[in-house]
Amino acid sequence: MATKTADATSKFLAVYPGSFDPVTNGHLDIIRRAAANYPNLIVAVVANPSKRPLLSLQERVDLLRVVCKGIPHVEVDCFEGLLVDYVRRRKGSLIIKGLRIVSDFEYEFSMALLNRRLRGGVDTMFLPASLEYAFISSSSVREVFSLGGDISEFVPPAVLRAMKRLDGSRLRLKKKVRRRDH
Ligand code: PNS
Repeated sequence: MATKTADATSKFLAVYPGSFDPVTNGHLDIIRRAAANYPNLIVAVVANPSKRPLLSLQERVDLLRVVCKGIPHVEVDCFEGLLVDYVRRRKGSLIIKGLRIVSDFEYEFSMALLNRRLRGGVDTMFLPASLEYAFISSSSVREVFSLGGDISEFVPPAVLRAMKRLDGSRLRLKKKVRRRDH
């Protein structure tokens, strides 16, 4: 049976998309584990204007660049529009998603099917969250922080510092616009 050459493997590119508003220790765990298994990983921040994120696109990208520094073969980028179009533009073939809880699976499973129907050839792989991070989401981090709670266990130090520098008016709790948010 033929084995893949190193060259063919190096062309294999996976995309880990998300809002990363902000990036949490749970995201970072998925990034590290995905990067250990895929030779080229792009962490792609969605520009999602409809979600009115707490952090600007540039802030989210900058923070990801800081926290991903030192993880080999990881690029941080951003995109607008359909994820599958971005993946194909970047010549990728795989979407990585993290799953924390069972209800994530229902949503992500239908997204994976939809994305594959939109663009045959772009498939999705799921990584289960490590147990110690399974309860952390960006939305809960934002909520705990805006109510004065301690988020230092849930986010990398650079994110904590950035959150503490935010103008108070930006921290007003926003109405949840959808069911889930990593
Ligand atoms: O971190 P999130 O908010 O759970 O990430 C969601 C994300 C970015 C993966 C998802 O919203 C997405 O893929 N957005 C791009 C638009 C798109 O392709 N939608 C799929 C068809 S509805």
